[in-house]
Amino acid sequence: MSDRFITVYEVGPRDGLQNEATVIPTADKIALINMLSETGLSKIETTSFVSPKWVPQMGDAVDVMQSIKRYKNVTYAALVPNLKGLDAAIKADVDEVAIFGSASESFSQKNINCSIAESFERFKPVAKKAIAQGVKLRGYVSCVVACPYEGSIAPQAVLDVANALFDMGCYEVSLGDTIGIATEADVARLLDTVTPHISGSLFAGHFHDTKGNALENVQTSLPYGMRTFDSAIGGLGGCPYAPGAKGNVSTVPLVEMLHSAGWETGLNIEKLYEAQALISLWSLGGHD
Ligand code: HMG
Ligand code: MG
Repeated sequence: MSDRFITVYEVGPRDGLQNEATVIPTADKIALINMLSETGLSKIETTSFVSPKWVPQMGDAVDVMQSIKRYKNVTYAALVPNLKGLDAAIKADVDEVAIFGSASESFSQKNINCSIAESFERFKPVAKKAIAQGVKLRGYVSCVVACPYEGSIAPQAVLDVANALFDMGCYEVSLGDTIGIATEADVARLLDTVTPHISGSLFAGHFHDTKGNALENVQTSLPYGMRTFDSAIGGLGGCPYAPGAKGNVSTVPLVEMLHSAGWETGLNIEKLYEAQALISLWSLGGHD
C-alpha cells in the first residue's frame, strides 16, 4: 500500500443513523449500505448490536447485517457493548466488532450504564471471544477532548483508556471527539500526549463536526502518522447520549480534501455522490 494511502472508515449507517429519532426502514438502510459497498470503501460500520431499549434505531441490526449484499473487499463492522451483542453479531456473520469506551466517567455512565473500570471488565470477555472466533476487534474512546456532561477531558485519561483497549487486543483505536468541538490545538495537545506512547498509525480519527473544525482536525492528525479517519456519508448523525452533537465529518468533503492534498483513498467520488444523493431523499430530522 502506498504511503500516501488513507483509509476512510464509513460509519454513516451506524453513527449516522443511530441519532435519527424517526426509525428508518430496514430496506432503506440496506440500500444505502449496498450503494456504499460500490464506492471502493474497505470498511463500513454497518450497525450496532446494542440494547434496542437504549437505541431503538439499531433494533434491526440482525436483519441489516444478514440482508446486505457482501462485497469481498469490504469489512462489515458493528458496535458491540457486551457479550450478548457480540454473540448476536457473530451469528449475523459480522467481520469486525468495536468495543466502545469513554475517557469521561459521566459519558460512560450515560452511554453504557457503567463506570470506565466496569466497562473494561465488561469488554475483556468480549474482546477475548471475538479474537478467538477470528473476528477483528476495534476500539473507540469517546470524549477525547470534551464531554457533554463534565467539560474538558485530560489527554492522560484518553491514553489510559486507549492502553486498556490495545491490551485487550484491539488492532486500532478510534479517538472520538463525540461532541465535535475540538480545535486543532486540542487535537495537537491530545496527540502530543498519546503518540509518544502508542504509534499514531494505530489510531483512527473520529471527528464529529458540530463546530465545523473536523476537516482541520484531520489535517492536524496526519503529521502524527494517523492514516484512518471515520466519516459519515452526508455528515449524518451524532450520538443520542451526546445532546446537540452533530454528525461525523462528511465523507465526500473529506475525500475531496484528501485527494486535493495528494492523498489516495481508492474511493470513487462519483459513486459517493450517488450514495449521498440517496440519503438526501430521506426525511431525516436528527434527535434534537
Ligand atoms: P443496561 O440497561 O445496563 O443492560 O444497558 P442490561 O444488561 O441490564 O440489559 C437491559 C436490557 O437490554 C435487557 O433486556 C437486555 O437483554 C437487553 P430485558 O431483559 O430488559 O428485556 N440487552 C440487549 N439487547 C440486545 N443487544 C444487546 C443487549 N444488551 C442488553 N447487546 C447496555 C447496558 C450497554 C446494553 C446499554 O447501555 C446500551 O445498549 N448502550 C448502547 C448505547 C449506544 O449505542 N450509544 C451510541 C453508540 S456510542 C457512540 O455513538 C460514540 C462513538 O460514535 C464514538 C464517539 O463519537 O465518541 C462510538
Ligand atoms: Mg461518534
